Amino acid sequence: MASVELKKVQKVYDGAVDPAVNDLDLEIEDGEFIVFVGPSGCGKSTALRMIAGLEQITGGECVIGDRVVNDIPPKDRDIAMVFQNYALYPHMTVARNLDYPLRIAGVEKAELDERVTQIARTLQLTELLERKPSQLSGGQRQRVAMGRALIRRPAVFLMDEPLSNLDAKLRVSMRSEIARIQEELGVTTVYVTHDQVEAMTMGDRVMVLNAGKLQQVAPPEVLYNKPGNVFVAGFIGSPAMNLWQSKYSIDGDGGWVELGGQQVSVPSATAERIGLGAYAGKDITVGIRPDDVHDDATDESSGSVNVTVKVREALGSEVICHFDAGVSRMIIDDPDLEEMMAEGMAPDIDFVGRFSPESDVQPGEERRVRFDVNKLHFFDAESGLRIDT
Ligand SMILES: Nc1ncnc2c1ncn2[C@@H]1O[C@H](COP(=O)(O)OP(=O)(O)O)[C@@H](O)[C@H]1O
Ligand SMILES: [Mg+2]
Repeated sequence: MASVELKKVQKVYDGAVDPAVNDLDLEIEDGEFIVFVGPSGCGKSTALRMIAGLEQITGGECVIGDRVVNDIPPKDRDIAMVFQNYALYPHMTVARNLDYPLRIAGVEKAELDERVTQIARTLQLTELLERKPSQLSGGQRQRVAMGRALIRRPAVFLMDEPLSNLDAKLRVSMRSEIARIQEELGVTTVYVTHDQVEAMTMGDRVMVLNAGKLQQVAPPEVLYNKPGNVFVAGFIGSPAMNLWQSKYSIDGDGGWVELGGQQVSVPSATAERIGLGAYAGKDITVGIRPDDVHDDATDESSGSVNVTVKVREALGSEVICHFDAGVSRMIIDDPDLEEMMAEGMAPDIDFVGRFSPESDVQPGEERRVRFDVNKLHFFDAESGLRIDT
């Protein structure tokens, strides 16, 4: 087992102008399970493949254990990798597929059998050892592919979107399965996915990447509760956080932010705690998660505003409500929509609230909704960084 450290790691592909990965600094602890997440093309696979040694590093250093591995070939890095398109040997049994890497390494029979027994137990494949891959389900095949990678007891285990080919239900069960296996083996693991739900449910820590740059690396609950910038705020969480351009104002009674010409009050204790005073009269970006919008507002409720209900989606366990709050919501990670909005073509983008299934919101209705004002998120309008001193 080993730690992994990336020091200002950079990748510029031949012929490319912009780096695919830019000055990436990251320390992965021995035994840690870290997930790389971000939109398609942000550099996740490139970062992983540099750790694996499958891509040449064009700047910076990659350290595994106590060795700088920049010039060490993949086979000597003591890593194992599982891709989206793994292939098992169709003519071999599960047992032979599992022990294949050990057999070619010349490991003797007794040791082989013991390792197969052990890894099969961990991966719950014991009953299936004599089957051929064609006699397995998608999830079972995926477990064999993982077993074949892990049987060598690598110091670092790398996975690149390994569940993408599985159907949605199986993905959910494999998520917890992989987390369990990782915990049991304690192997340092880097897992790449574009799916933020997958990222949030699996990793000890999650690294969010965008356009080759590290946005934030933190435990899932920190990403959710204290996103470090506007990108992370809009990328993590579903439905996405409502974000809008606003202004912070203060008068004798306290401060407020604007939403479509209405005032959402900000408790003075909150404003003081995060140092909002410095932004008085200035543009800021404000966010509120759909979970922190409530349908029980009265005229006197603090932080409540009038909106027009547009859509009610009854999902059984909850009601997702889309409403017009008189201002366009900012869209993160949706290039098509962003372009349309820049050209003034998109209609107002709705705000979203997540209400209880008993909510009586109805489309077309004028309604007062209440923001949980302690749950507002504030970002510097220029840098996009969280305002939180
Ligand atoms: N072999 C390559 N040659 C040139 N550009 C590449 C190569 N592989 C990836 N890229 C580019 O590098 C960027 C990051 O790609 P990648 O790491 O595959 O992203 P992700 O895995 O996050 O979807 C993209 O712009 C992609 O087009
Ligand atoms: Mg990729």
